[in-house]
Amino acid sequence: MEVGIFATESEVADAAAEHLFAVLAAADNKVLGVATGSTPLPLYQRMRAAHAEGKFSLEDFKAFALDEYVGIDPEHPERYRNVLRTELVGDDKTGLKDENLFTPEGNAPDPAVAADEYDAKIKEHGPIALQILGIGADGHIGFNEPGISLVCRTHTDVLTEQTRKDNMRFFDNDIEKVPAGCVTQGLGTIMDATEVLLIATGANKADAVKELVEGGVSALWPASILQMHPKATVLVDEAAAAKLKLTDFYRGRWEATHK
Ligand code: GLP
Repeated sequence: MEVGIFATESEVADAAAEHLFAVLAAADNKVLGVATGSTPLPLYQRMRAAHAEGKFSLEDFKAFALDEYVGIDPEHPERYRNVLRTELVGDDKTGLKDENLFTPEGNAPDPAVAADEYDAKIKEHGPIALQILGIGADGHIGFNEPGISLVCRTHTDVLTEQTRKDNMRFFDNDIEKVPAGCVTQGLGTIMDATEVLLIATGANKADAVKELVEGGVSALWPASILQMHPKATVLVDEAAAAKLKLTDFYRGRWEATHK
């Protein structure tokens, strides 16, 4: 696992964009894994800016989302398909075509069947060349909450109360309006990506980042499974890095390998 520590959220986003542009330019398989939450938004802004300058395009790419709410109004701006459309789809964004954006069907008649089909579709078009990830304060990635199987595939689940609380800022600050269920790529599905890029910013992520990078691999902190990934990059700001032990080593190695 490579760890990059930066002074500000903006520097994290610059480094994430640089990494993503390089990985996608060299990718054999033109498939990107995209994430929601607020953390990746500055990265998406940089992708749009680079597209506007003619330096970057997802025109030839397929994109697979990590997760989706179950039972959310299809028109709701926080439906993850809608978030990703707003951020990435179209020539005025990153060039990604709507028909090439795949998101789990949270409103399918049987979301569990739809989850299996989604996993099969990722296998069909995969491997995902680069999976972008955020992290929850409780160490979840996608919606793989603590206690989840470390090898699970795309599945439906219920959200923890903490995650519904964390996400209620997007739902009029009313926890009752946050959907209770989700469909998410499983940890096994995420681990199939050729590379993963996890971004974490802010002090409320410091515990999760410590467990992700230096803790034991454990279902208690689902993101810790990424220690078993051969090509994982973790980019954090100082606040999110505050509880890491080996920061001097990470900084030195990053400088030595990113000249
Ligand atoms: C949500 C998403 C995750 C995201 C996490 C953190 O629950 N399902 O993919 O990483 O929360 O969100 P944020 O980046 O807004 O802190």
